Amino acid sequence: MSETEKINQLRSQLVTLYQQHQDGLLFHGWHHITFVTNKSIVFAKELGANEFLVQSAALVHDLNYIVESNSKPEAGKGLREEILSKAGYSSEEIEKIEKIIMDECTTNRHGDISLESKALSDADTLFKALPVTPILFASKYIEENNVDVAKLAHKICDEQTHLMESGIYFYTDKAKQSYLKWAKVNLELWSNVEECLKDEDVREMLEIAESSEVI
Ligand SMILES: [Fe+2]
Repeated sequence: MSETEKINQLRSQLVTLYQQHQDGLLFHGWHHITFVTNKSIVFAKELGANEFLVQSAALVHDLNYIVESNSKPEAGKGLREEILSKAGYSSEEIEKIEKIIMDECTTNRHGDISLESKALSDADTLFKALPVTPILFASKYIEENNVDVAKLAHKICDEQTHLMESGIYFYTDKAKQSYLKWAKVNLELWSNVEECLKDEDVREMLEIAESSEVI
């Protein structure tokens, strides 16, 4: 089976699976997977990474959210294996894809990951940094993962500030040049969210909004 056939097989299985789970995947749904896959190919080309492996990893990188909400990538390992095998991937390819995903995870990644993980990381991170994401999808993340805004703001600042400070928020020149300005504003926004939640009048206002089901 050719690489293109494997990708096509994989994609068609995933389209069906994501359709079945779309109600629960308000943030990590097929819209997210499609965007991350498209951008990961662009970044893979720039880096000279293996495009087949990057594209495959991007397609299955968030299957853990189908297995269990608010989970880590490890939770999707079994489902990834099952779906990739069905699509004709060898166990060696499945192992490589698993490593790309584990290494690109925001909580694991560092400066010395593979080119394939760097390409996927830039695409996945870019979704978080898009100016539309806090406006349209932050509340969807809160609903999907059953967390509150304080927890989400803390998670973002805690996971992303040191990546920005150590110069690996993005790995590719293209992402750095085109999107770092968005990422900085985004991180500043979430830091401001954390700061404003210290104000007791803000907290009271949010509690009222929540109890009256405005938010
Ligand atoms: Fe993702």
